[in-house]
Amino acid sequence: MKLYKIAVIEGDGIGKEVVPAAIKVLNAVAEMDSSFKFEWTYFPWGCDYYLQHGEMMPQDGIETLKQYDQIFLGAVGMPELVPDHISLWGLLIKIRREMKQAINVRPAKLLKGLESPLKNPNGFNITVVRENSEGEYSESGGRIHQGQDEIAMQNAVFTRKATERAMRYAFELAKSSRGHVTSATKSNGLTYSMPFWDEVFAEVKKDYPDIDTAVNHIDALAAFFVMKPYAFDVVVASNLFGDILTDLGGAIMGSIGIAPAANLNIERQFPSMFEPVHGSAPDIAGKGIANPIGQIWTGKMMLDFLGHQEAGKKVLEAIEATLEKGIKTGDIGGHSTMYEVVEEILNQLQ
Ligand code: NAI
Ligand code: MG
Repeated sequence: MKLYKIAVIEGDGIGKEVVPAAIKVLNAVAEMDSSFKFEWTYFPWGCDYYLQHGEMMPQDGIETLKQYDQIFLGAVGMPELVPDHISLWGLLIKIRREMKQAINVRPAKLLKGLESPLKNPNGFNITVVRENSEGEYSESGGRIHQGQDEIAMQNAVFTRKATERAMRYAFELAKSSRGHVTSATKSNGLTYSMPFWDEVFAEVKKDYPDIDTAVNHIDALAAFFVMKPYAFDVVVASNLFGDILTDLGGAIMGSIGIAPAANLNIERQFPSMFEPVHGSAPDIAGKGIANPIGQIWTGKMMLDFLGHQEAGKKVLEAIEATLEKGIKTGDIGGHSTMYEVVEEILNQLQ
């Protein structure tokens, strides 16, 4: 019997609701499978912690987290009391960077029982692989001449190592998927970073002769996600492009409340972090009406990463069966509470 030690950070807002809900489902799956078990350790880090202690997590937080197999996180953010750049960089981005979670994987798939806002979704099933450690989200830049003549500079940083790593991961994924990789570029507008990105893509592609490829500018690609999402399999994108594209991915699935994500340390040197795409949703927090599916599907991604694909598949099937019965939260057109949705998913698992 394998015992997985998971560090849990519920975070803020609906994170405090959807994380315990997802853990119920994951425990139920583990109970059905005698080969593994979870041990959950909760850390009260986030904006409440910041308001009490002046930091989002303790100084030795990263060292503490390194003792766990994986990290399961809800959402962070309390924009009325803590500026977003503090909450984001003090916890989420800090963990992603220091744990070298250089790959962010976000599926966008039309689930059974869900209506896409698109007229012709045609059963799309996309996986976006986002470079997660550099690119447009760099700490390089500055502001000078406060006031009227102020200048702000934000540099985009692309290294061969990280660019190639994201692309290779995308090609490997495509092998067990439908054999197609699309690269998101913008080499007509960004004249250094994106021609470099295109060159690396062309080189990596040579090592995967069986995989078909396409190269699309990010603006056209965003339009294609709306017009013909079924044309895509794996999409590889830089940090910013992937960030924007995956919110769109969530939207065409029906709600950002169902979109899952994984921040992976593919070398498995440090824990990876599993967190849904959505934020803390302060507008609906504490009401018990948040959609738990994003967090539960995120748990399925953790099962997959731990090597329990069969168990992961069961979770997704239980989610779809629940949706097909019409048991849904308000964001996807239903009237059920979060608790009713979780209850039905647990029933479906049995
Ligand atoms: P958000 O994702 O929290 O909410 C956007 C909209 O989607 C809201 O109307 C919300 O009610 C709805 N929504 C989100 N998740 C839902 C769910 N599970 N079920 C039903 N409806 C759901 O994004 P927003 O409002 O831009 O940000 C709120 C806070 O969350 C901010 O402080 C932001 O920085 C933070 N944030 C944190 C993220 C993270 O921890 N990974 C990601 C995105 C935002
Ligand atoms: Mg985002």
